[in-house]
Amino acid sequence: MVQTTTVDTIGQFVDQTVTIRGWLYSKRSSGKVRFLLIRDGTGTIQAVVVKNEVSPATFALTDTLTQESSLVTTGTVHVDARSPGGHELQVSDITVVQIAEDYPITPKEHGPAFLLDHRHLWLRSAKQHAILRIRSQVIEAAREYLNREGFILFDAPILTPAACEGTTTLFETDYFYDEKAYLSQSGQLYAEAGAMAFGKVYTLGPTFRAEKSKTRRHLTEFWMLEPEAAFAELEDILSLAEQLVSHLVRSVLTHKSEELKVLGRERSKLESVLPPFPRITYDEALDLLRQNSIDHEWGEDFGTTEDTLISEQFDRPVMITHYPLQTKAFYMKSDPDRPDLALCVDVLAPEGYGEIIGGSQREDDYNKLLERLAQHDLPREPFEWYLDLRRYGSVPHSGFGLGIERTVAWICGIQHLREAIPFPRMLQRIYP
Ligand code: 4AD
Ligand code: MG
Repeated sequence: MVQTTTVDTIGQFVDQTVTIRGWLYSKRSSGKVRFLLIRDGTGTIQAVVVKNEVSPATFALTDTLTQESSLVTTGTVHVDARSPGGHELQVSDITVVQIAEDYPITPKEHGPAFLLDHRHLWLRSAKQHAILRIRSQVIEAAREYLNREGFILFDAPILTPAACEGTTTLFETDYFYDEKAYLSQSGQLYAEAGAMAFGKVYTLGPTFRAEKSKTRRHLTEFWMLEPEAAFAELEDILSLAEQLVSHLVRSVLTHKSEELKVLGRERSKLESVLPPFPRITYDEALDLLRQNSIDHEWGEDFGTTEDTLISEQFDRPVMITHYPLQTKAFYMKSDPDRPDLALCVDVLAPEGYGEIIGGSQREDDYNKLLERLAQHDLPREPFEWYLDLRRYGSVPHSGFGLGIERTVAWICGIQHLREAIPFPRMLQRIYP
């Protein structure tokens, strides 16, 4: 019996005969030799077919293979320093599973619209492969870190009765018996209930924003990781945020160096991401902007220009705290020393990648929370359950949301968020 294996573990089978199941990435010929580059999802390997070493049928077969044809290939593993991955396969036999039709994605340059229309196939190419493997690593590392720190996974619902992050970006859908439901903008409110039940929880799931903005940094469906902790103040989640982000980066540097190489990502840009992260207040950020000739009015949230300029001053993520309360969501706690400020934080990634984390201490006082709901024109009934958390054993608590795609795009050094998720949803795109 010949052992079936995968490209990522082929190094264990030097000088042995193995079978690889995969797809033809590309091929070239030279006289009596055919070079097939085969990918199997775990990596790519060059398979060498020499005319005198295979049956005439097998050799003839190689000339019929088209890009992305599926095949089962048997051969002997050799060390070859010049090959991608350091090994190649000396082929003895090939079984074709399917000869692929003319593949739409060829080595020539395609425009982004074409590639996005073919996202289901584009996923097979080397760069997309590297990005999505890094995404998988980021999520695994986040869970590993939070689990180790005593957080438990607490899944929040997607269909919700009310807004969390303002009513302007809500996706509405019909629910039964003339009710309305909204796609969740954030699992936070439910995570707060979880924190009161379990102490430390995190949600990880898709969240939705009906953003009418067409930017590189906005998706209408994106994944968010939201830790929430009872008996935690702003200070506590600042250190959680810097530890978590550093851990994610370190984990990718350790386990995904090949992928970073494929993306041409400079490692030094990531190696500097170590705690402590610089911390500045909103007011200090205004000074920083002023020094760079940007006169930003107090009370306005920052936009892309401001975020970019601020983040470019630092070699690691910067944490901006104490924004004007008026710009922020209803649930944020105001600073007892400066009630016009929120006990909140935005973490901006370096190199102009923008906000990767938004978080805060939560308003834990029943009456103040009622006032804040009213100020934000939010109805009280759908939030009764949330108010209960302030009626029964309310404690200081805090949390944040980390945008998975923003974090992955920054770590990978890619321009657009649309490549940081398998199937992006944007203003003008819901296909495929
Ligand atoms: O700052 P945001 O809106 O915060 C919240 O939703 C809080 N409820 C989180 C919490 O405290 N538990 O969003 C958090 C993060 C942002 O920093 C950004 O990384 C990402 O989610 N994000 C988006 N990512 C892609 N596309 C969008 N349209 C995004 N909106 C926010
Ligand atoms: Mg935010």
